[in-house]
Amino acid sequence: MLNMHYLDNAATSWPKPEAVYQTADKFMREIGANPGRSGHCLAKQADTIVEETRELLAEFFGAPDPKLVTFTFNGTDGLNLVIKGLLAPGDHAITSNIEHNSVSRPLRRLEQQGVDVTYLQADANGLLFAENLAPLLRPETKLVIMSHASNVLGAVQDVAALAKVAHQNGALFALDAAQTAGHQPIDMQALGIDILVVPGHKGLLAPYGTGAVISLRDAGILPWRDGGTGIKSDSRMHPNELPYRLEGGTLNAAGIAGLGAAIKFINAEGLTNIAAKESNDMQQLLACLQAEERITIYGPRSAAERAGLVAFNVAGLSSAELGQLLNDDWRVAGRPGLHCSPLSHRAVGTFPDGSYRLSPGYFTTPNAIESVCAAIRQICREQ
Ligand SMILES: Cc1ncc(COP(=O)(O)O)c(C=O)c1O
Repeated sequence: MLNMHYLDNAATSWPKPEAVYQTADKFMREIGANPGRSGHCLAKQADTIVEETRELLAEFFGAPDPKLVTFTFNGTDGLNLVIKGLLAPGDHAITSNIEHNSVSRPLRRLEQQGVDVTYLQADANGLLFAENLAPLLRPETKLVIMSHASNVLGAVQDVAALAKVAHQNGALFALDAAQTAGHQPIDMQALGIDILVVPGHKGLLAPYGTGAVISLRDAGILPWRDGGTGIKSDSRMHPNELPYRLEGGTLNAAGIAGLGAAIKFINAEGLTNIAAKESNDMQQLLACLQAEERITIYGPRSAAERAGLVAFNVAGLSSAELGQLLNDDWRVAGRPGLHCSPLSHRAVGTFPDGSYRLSPGYFTTPNAIESVCAAIRQICREQ
């Protein structure tokens, strides 16, 4: 393994908890069977593991029934499922002007097919306000969908206020929690989130190929994928029952086993402890970045208002040059460029060069934070 300081957890978390490696490995070596597809005991064991993870997810996010948890293959998969499975020509949807491509591109495609989309404008720090959402709602608004925290600006939204306004007009409120799930508590019922989309491989510390769409009640999402489910095989039509309706085809059972282990790990560590550790890292990073005159930080100034990521630029260097220097000379793995969110960069005037993003995670050491700060100080003074 290269001796790198990995600060790219907003793209995917790494390393994973030891139990996640072991559980996914054990599943593949010792169980291996296709969950729900056969009656033999290995298939039943696989099914039990998948259903246990469904229960863990429902409980973790405050959903009333595990059947309302649909497994997906990443965040993008879930967002496409929700957006394309709910909206039809003639519907109106509201999103924001700082979304990730996995929200903005499916909506863009639907716009070309007759769905009307309105873009709520964020303020200069990337915050969205309920009072600006209210006038955008219409009788035919079916869906309000936005990220809990932008993966560029990091600002954490007041979800309860935004959801309340969406509901006053009868719209569904869907949240892309790609940058907050596993980093801070999310209680769907308390916040009024009708549909939550989470990737497994980021803050939830699970393997690649995992994610979930979790609903408070059956919102009527239609599948874009029909196929085998292990139930009602005699019918020509794909079953309508959840979770099967939205889970055609073989699941990533080894990844789901790892996701279950990851949630147990997070529960054992305590989500509030994780949030406190990550906020402390962010405070240190922000302090070091704010001390450099050449640095412009995008998003809120304080760690309390942000998710665990910070994007910035150093005057006189492109984000790619900074990324190259940090990688080559300082063994720092961060992410330069547009971060799959050109809209955020347009909103803060950093399009098309983008910015450089650091995103520590639960396993980031104090030594890594100090090394990154030392590297940035030296680059700002010498390059
Ligand atoms: C805010 C946001 N939404 C959605 C996604 C897409 O998630 P995935 O990479 O799991 O498809 C990302 C990934 O970076 C993200 O940051």
